[in-house]
Amino acid sequence: MEQELRTLEREASEGLEQISTANELEEFRIHYLGRKGQFSGIMEQLKAVPKEDKPRLGQLANTVKKQIEKAFSVKKEQIAAGATTSAAIGSIDLTLPGRRPEQGRLHPVTQIMTEVCSIFESMGFSVAEGPDVEQDRYNFEALNIPAHHPARDMHDTFYVSDSILLRTHTSPMQARIMEQQEPPLRVIAPGKVYRCDSDITHTPMFHQVEGFLVDTNVSFADLKGVLSVFTQKIFDADLPLRFRPSFFPFTEPSAEVDIACVICNGKGCRVCKKTGWLEILGAGMIDPEVFKQVGYDPEKYSGFAFGLGIERIAMLKYGIDDIRLYYENDLRFLSQF
Ligand code: DAH
Repeated sequence: MEQELRTLEREASEGLEQISTANELEEFRIHYLGRKGQFSGIMEQLKAVPKEDKPRLGQLANTVKKQIEKAFSVKKEQIAAGATTSAAIGSIDLTLPGRRPEQGRLHPVTQIMTEVCSIFESMGFSVAEGPDVEQDRYNFEALNIPAHHPARDMHDTFYVSDSILLRTHTSPMQARIMEQQEPPLRVIAPGKVYRCDSDITHTPMFHQVEGFLVDTNVSFADLKGVLSVFTQKIFDADLPLRFRPSFFPFTEPSAEVDIACVICNGKGCRVCKKTGWLEILGAGMIDPEVFKQVGYDPEKYSGFAFGLGIERIAMLKYGIDDIRLYYENDLRFLSQF
């Protein structure tokens, strides 16, 4: 019996090596370990062995059985693991069309900003960028807005310290550039600006483009010419312009500039509040006081300046009625541009 047990152990171990499928493994189990299998057959003989040999042979039988069972379960795990891997390999369908990676695009505000800049560049303006965190001197003082001037009320902002703030407009770039360069100058300054403001037409951060031109004998007609070309190009239409007298401390005279409503062509609608006109920017002739602040001779030089809001231009161009849509990061909105 001892011999038979040893043979069984060897055969089982060799047999197991050949096995590679779950079905074969089950056949193996029935053949060796099943109720009517090889092992049970040998165990039948145990009844007939002499009494003194029984404990030793019983123990050997047990060891052989455990050995086979252990090897069996190791094989079972191997087959199960192999099955998952081959199932995964089988699930890759090489005939499926590829997935196109999503392509990004520029934010509509960036797109308009780029377009605005290139229109002015085509008229000989150069582009200058300045700091978002600005000194009181450039944001206000040098632009003829002294402390306690009522114009500061409309420019409440976020202060870093008493004299350092987030700029409320791009106009400080007028003073920064003029301080460093002599006329003639033709510059635009795009960038972010900040105000304590938030509703459907205002966000605490928005974008402006400042433009200014300084030379000898610059007139309001030059301003009008440059702005006419700009509005024609950006709205791709020959829109009449209207200059309304206004006030800005850094320009004299100052004007608010309207274009004929792009929605109703000047007939009067909800967007233009039945006036037929839409305000798009502020402008004027640079105040001699600003020239004095930067060390230019106001008797010798003259110039014009203007400032426009990018979000507003994009809203009019695309018929967007809520400025907050730009900053909600909703791809359903952003992917339309
Ligand atoms: N900086 C002004 C604002 O944000 C806009 C502006 C008006 C700029 C008139 C100008 C200008 O250069 O001449 O309200």
